Amino acid sequence: MADGSWYDADIDHVIISEAQIREKTAELAKQVSADYAGVTDGLLLVCVLKGAVMFMADFARALGRQGPPAELDFMAISSYGQGTTSSGVVRILKDLDRDIAGRHVVVVEDIVDSGLTLNWLLRYLESRSAASVEVVALFRKPDAVKVPVPVKYVGFDIPTEFVVGYGLDFGERYRELPYVGVLKPEVYARS
Ligand code: XMP
Ligand code: MG
Repeated sequence: MADGSWYDADIDHVIISEAQIREKTAELAKQVSADYAGVTDGLLLVCVLKGAVMFMADFARALGRQGPPAELDFMAISSYGQGTTSSGVVRILKDLDRDIAGRHVVVVEDIVDSGLTLNWLLRYLESRSAASVEVVALFRKPDAVKVPVPVKYVGFDIPTEFVVGYGLDFGERYRELPYVGVLKPEVYARS
């Protein structure tokens, strides 16, 4: 149904297609590029692993076409276990490699759901004295929000449904899907 690949069998329907993601990523990069045109010491893009890895790769390349120059850093935090609901408990699995004091930071996020993870992350980055911190999130579930978080750049608002693909997983699977979709109910039933 999606593009004839093996994983299509598990997907109930596609929410956002590969082409839509590509187009939106270019748009977001253009906005960020314009807003940070005057930043001389470069941006620091902070990717939250693992979900945002695809978006980070594509967003950084899109930004690279127009600048400003950016450094890439990665954090791994955990707020979800194997399941599909947020625990609100955040653990750092991998911290930033470099000091961010005085840097203009853009957090590259896959999806803002309850906002609990991002709320924690923003406070953490601010406590480390970044010059500025903004967020670009490819997806947001506006009806799921529990803590309001300032997300300056949003790709798509999507319904409050659990989605997979383009970095997003269910039990570590489906991250490699080039689109974002909803799993068939029987996939949950057999797990
Ligand atoms: P919160 O609720 O803290 O969640 O805003 C943010 C993180 O939870 C993950 N998340 C999802 N992962 N499908 C996924 O595979 C989803 O629909 C989904 N919603 C939230 C994601 O890692 C995000 O950064
Ligand atoms: Mg996940």
